[in-house]
Amino acid sequence: MATVTNIQDLRAIAMRKVPRAIFHYADRGSYDETTLRANKADLAAIPLRQRVMIDVSDRSTATTMIGEKVALPLAIAPTGLTGLFHGDGEIHGCRAAQAAGIPFTLSTMSICSIEDVAGAVDKPFWFQLYVMRDRKFSESLIERAKAAKCSALVLTLDLQIQGQRHMDIKNGLAVPPKLTLANALDIATKPRWIASVLMGKRHSFGNLAVRQESDSLSTLSQWIAGQFDPSLSWKDVEWVRSIWPGKLILKGVLDVEDARIAAATGADAIVVSNHGGRQLDGAVSSIKALPKIVDAIGGGKSEIWFDGGVQSGQDILKARALGAQGCMMGKAFLWSLAAGGQAGVAKAIEIMRKELDVSMALTGVKDIEQVDRSVLAL
Ligand SMILES: Cc1cc2nc3c(=O)[nH]c(=O)nc-3n(C[C@H](O)[C@H](O)[C@H](O)COP(=O)(O)O)c2cc1C
Repeated sequence: MATVTNIQDLRAIAMRKVPRAIFHYADRGSYDETTLRANKADLAAIPLRQRVMIDVSDRSTATTMIGEKVALPLAIAPTGLTGLFHGDGEIHGCRAAQAAGIPFTLSTMSICSIEDVAGAVDKPFWFQLYVMRDRKFSESLIERAKAAKCSALVLTLDLQIQGQRHMDIKNGLAVPPKLTLANALDIATKPRWIASVLMGKRHSFGNLAVRQESDSLSTLSQWIAGQFDPSLSWKDVEWVRSIWPGKLILKGVLDVEDARIAAATGADAIVVSNHGGRQLDGAVSSIKALPKIVDAIGGGKSEIWFDGGVQSGQDILKARALGAQGCMMGKAFLWSLAAGGQAGVAKAIEIMRKELDVSMALTGVKDIEQVDRSVLAL
């Protein structure tokens, strides 16, 4: 870890440490990956405004997200199969996040269950919900999140149906991971992953344990196609709202019209997101969508958050400048977890906090609360 200086270093280590199918699951996007690339390229293309000779001693990156204090405007995004990147990955990720003072979101599709994580950490975390065909089951997940004292529910709106990710199909990605002739050689070269994940006790969807008829349930994409519900509508958001009294975050809005409807639900936050370029390929990058949504619904009850391509403190600064109260990171989190478990995630958060801090200073800002569009050279 000593030679790791940025998130790309963690990605390179992750590539060496986990099997190809797992690495591709995190790293790649849907179809031609145009949106995946645009998320990063459009963030990179936004110029920051260099300012000089302004007293920038005593800086602070601390702020709030839905009223919760955060050391920097960053939360860990929900990511499915996190525990396949490192044994007990969700627990390691949550511990690292909480120690660093940022929120952690547990995915419905996690390997460690809600109860596993709740039993291993001492502060509340957030739970991400996919409403599946079986509404009773979705309701039971909400009840479990309440029992675990989750402090927010993140309801994901952009996966009624799955965008095709070619690499997951080509790699035959399955849960639990299957040892096949094709992947045996690759897996054999990852001894630490074998010890941490394959020889660990959790290999399958922790929250869905009761729902998996058998381990031979086929590939992940086929399974998702059977469980996810294309008939979901805003009525289901109302339904979730009626049974979840706590903070509600709606994730996966990219369009101004959808943002207006989402804001009208009274949600506490709306995440401008295209699922990290994993769903509609050809969709606009998240950072291009952000300012339009801020112009349309900013200043209302719902905070506006951002994800898609966040891999540095500069990215966080740009999103904040364009009106995002907070950001989420998906891939950067998974790479760091695969690279070094809890220490890897701690390292990633610290790298991004320092980058944000220095970039604020070099744009002449002392306090994250003062960041606005004036830090951009647009
Ligand atoms: C491997 C992987 C799995 C994901 N699984 C979920 C999930 O279970 N639920 C969800 O709401 N979003 C999921 N996402 C999307 C992330 O929450 C987030 O929107 C996205 O990763 C942000 O883009 P970034 O990866 O460029 O940071 C996943 C993303 C990745 C990379």
